[in-house]
Parts: sequence; structure tokens; C-alpha cells
Amino acid sequence: AKQKLWGGRFTGKTDPLMHAFNQSLKYDQRMHEVDIRGSIAYAKSLSLVAILTKDEEARIIEGLKQVGKEWADGVFQIQPDDEDIHTANERRLSEIIGALGGKLHTGRSRNDQVATDLRLWLLEEAKVAEKSLGALVRVLVERADSEKDYLLPGYTHLQRGQPIRWSHLLLSYALSLRADLDRLRQLVPRISVLPLGSGALAGNPFVVDREFLAKELGFLSVAENSLWGVADRDFVAEFLMWSSLVMTHLSKIAEDLIIYSTAEFGFITLSDAYSTGSSMMPQKKNPDSLELLRGKTGRLFGNMAGFLMTLKGLPSTYNKDLQEDKEPLFDTVDNLTACLQIAEGVIATLEVHGENMKAALTMDVLATDLADYLVRKGIPFRETHHISGRAVALAEARQCQISDLKMDDFKALSKEFTEDIYDVFDFEASVERREAIGGTSRKMVERQIAVLRASLAN
Ligand code: ARG
Repeated sequence: AKQKLWGGRFTGKTDPLMHAFNQSLKYDQRMHEVDIRGSIAYAKSLSLVAILTKDEEARIIEGLKQVGKEWADGVFQIQPDDEDIHTANERRLSEIIGALGGKLHTGRSRNDQVATDLRLWLLEEAKVAEKSLGALVRVLVERADSEKDYLLPGYTHLQRGQPIRWSHLLLSYALSLRADLDRLRQLVPRISVLPLGSGALAGNPFVVDREFLAKELGFLSVAENSLWGVADRDFVAEFLMWSSLVMTHLSKIAEDLIIYSTAEFGFITLSDAYSTGSSMMPQKKNPDSLELLRGKTGRLFGNMAGFLMTLKGLPSTYNKDLQEDKEPLFDTVDNLTACLQIAEGVIATLEVHGENMKAALTMDVLATDLADYLVRKGIPFRETHHISGRAVALAEARQCQISDLKMDDFKALSKEFTEDIYDVFDFEASVERREAIGGTSRKMVERQIAVLRASLAN
């Protein structure tokens, strides 16, 4: 009769519902490749300490490669009793090479095995995320470079504030995401720590060479404490937190672009490739891509918060609760990568309407510049702010723009106003005055592009 790998001390059978409840193979089979890789390295380390002969090592590795090939070819036969990817692979290995397969797990536990697999898996996925994120930043920088001429109102509280360059806005997105790229790179060394050789919890009594294992598997360092090695999932939590932060940035971009794509704003049009229609209203073109970016942010936050709750209150070392690390992590990784790629496509293909942006620039967004004009004449800013505010109120009462006020009107507000006040009412000039580092002037926008390009090059 078929036996569970751990069945020796059991006389009773697992309840079928419990078996299904406990089984993780349906989702952890996506770690099949790293599981085989980990086992091949472990077989080598067992041979180095003479637990396996050279011949046994070779036969085990041969068998493992065959199991790996069955997965890769999509012909691996899952058996009802397979619990997870580790037991499935070991079961199949023993079917192929016989009883010798039972030597592979010497000194190893699924506890150090699964922690190793998950780290290896995430290291691969982190590379994919890094690439997609880099591509998105690059698209933002390239668009910013080619669309420097467009001016639009910059908003605070979603109220028109001051004129800015469209490129300046794109580059603000790029900077947030560029920092996310740094954060990801800083996270990698904490993922890249080898648990294998920690055993179930106390360490490896056959004294396998863990530095050899780390080198074989490409880990940067070795878990220095076996209790920590089997239990640590901070790298999962951190990746979920990092993904959540990336999503807050995507969500902000999505929200801006959704607003800008309304008929009321009309600053941009989303490409058909990233829009969908309405089943009822024939005229509709909806920004579903952007709404999903915004919406999935909540889902990824949920994965993070849920997993932190799984970790909370766990006693030391391995507990089965930790099996709940995979689904949130897999879900976050899949959705994050998709979101980054969609965001890149949306940004690369959207159409910009410079004329509508310009039309939204009303003269009141130059009220700060009006106040600054008087500052240059020696009046304290608190007073000039007040004077400019009164000019705005006067224009509002007359239902005109501040630039339509007569010289006498200005004179009545302050004697320091002279004819050159009308030079202030120039959006391009306003933008160009912001030439301190970080400002929206053309030169400072070009500087940002250069800084970002240089940082992307390494
Ligand atoms: N499937 C398990 C997991 O994902 C593997 C480790 C099981 N270890 C154990 N002692 N039951 O965490």
C-alpha cells in the first residue's frame, strides 16, 4: 500500500478533507525547477561528506534531472498522495532510481528545503520585476524628453496651482519608481541567504559544507542560525511591502491619468490597446487598464497585511502556518509584474493633447508669480501674497482674468506696480523662472532626464 513519506509512526489514515486541506502541491508546483536545483546541490554536498558514494550521487542527480524534465515537458504525473512539490519530487525520484532515492533527504528537512526553494524562486522573479520596472522608468524618461514643450497646470488638492511642464510630471513618476528599483536591489541580499543545511531546526549533523551549497545555488550568504533559517519569512514580508509601495506609485499615476483622460480635462487619450468599451453605452471608451492598476493596489496591500497577520504570534521555528506564505507571494508577484508591464504599455502609447493642457492654464495660476513680482520690488512676501490675493478677488468679481486688470487697478493695490507687471502673465516665463535644481524649467527638466538616464545605465 502507498504510504506517506512521514507515515512510519502513524497507524490511522488521514481524513480525506484534511489531506486536501494540507496539500500545497496545487500551487507550490511552480517551484518545481528550484526544488530540483536545490536537491541536486544537496546530493553533491552529501557526497562530499561521504554519505553518498560518487556513483550514488551521479545516479541521484541523473534521476533528479529526469524528474525535472518531466515537469518541464508537462508530463509529470501527480499522485493523489503527493503533499507538496518536495514530497512529489522525492516520490518520483524513488520510482525512477529505486531505494537509493531515499538517501537524498539525509540530514535535510522540508523545513530547510522549502525555505531554500522559496528564496531561489523569488530571486528569479525579482529579476523579472527589476526588468519590468526598469523598462517603465525608461519609457517615462523618454516621453519626458520628447514632450518638454507641453505646459499644463500643476495641481494641489486637485485645484490649479502653478504652470508646469508635462515632462516634469512624468519625471516625478519616474523618480518614485527609480527609488523602488533601488529598494528592490537593496532587498535582494536579504532574500539571497541560504537556509539549506539547517535541517528541521537544529542544524545538519552530517556537517555538509553550507558554503559550498551557497556557492552551488548562487546565494550571497548562509543563514547563520538554523532556527532562523527554517523560520525566517521576513524576505517574503519585505517583498510584499515593497510591492505595495510600488503599487501606491502606480495607483497615483493611474489616478492622475484617469482624471486627465476625462472629456472634462481632455489632456490625454488612452490608446485603444489599453481601453475597453461599454456593453450598453456605445460612445464609451473606458480606462480599464488604469482602473485595474489602481484596483489591484488594494489586492496587493491585502496580500501584505494578510501575511503579516499569518506571521504574528507564531512561535519559533517552522509551523505549518508558514505554508500560507506562498499564495500571497505568488499572487503579488504575478500581479505586480502584470501591472508594471501594463503601465509601461499605457504610458508608451497614450496620446497627449498639448492644446487642451494649454487651454486649462488660466491666469490665476500666475498669482504666485504676481506676488513674487512685488517681492522683487522689496515688499515682504506675506504682504505681496495678500495683494495678489486681492487682485484675484477683483478679477473674480469682474469676471475677468487677472491679466485683464487695468494699470489703475494694480496701482490701487500697490504703488510698486509698474507697466512691466503685464510681463508676468506669461506661462512659459513662469515655468522658466523655476530654474533652481528640481524646478520645472526646461534646463532643470533636462537635468532630471540626464540624472535618470545615468542612473539607469548602471
Ligand atoms: N509544504 C510545506 C510548506 O510549504 C513544506 C514544509 C513542510 N514541513 C513540515 N514540517 N510539515 O511550508
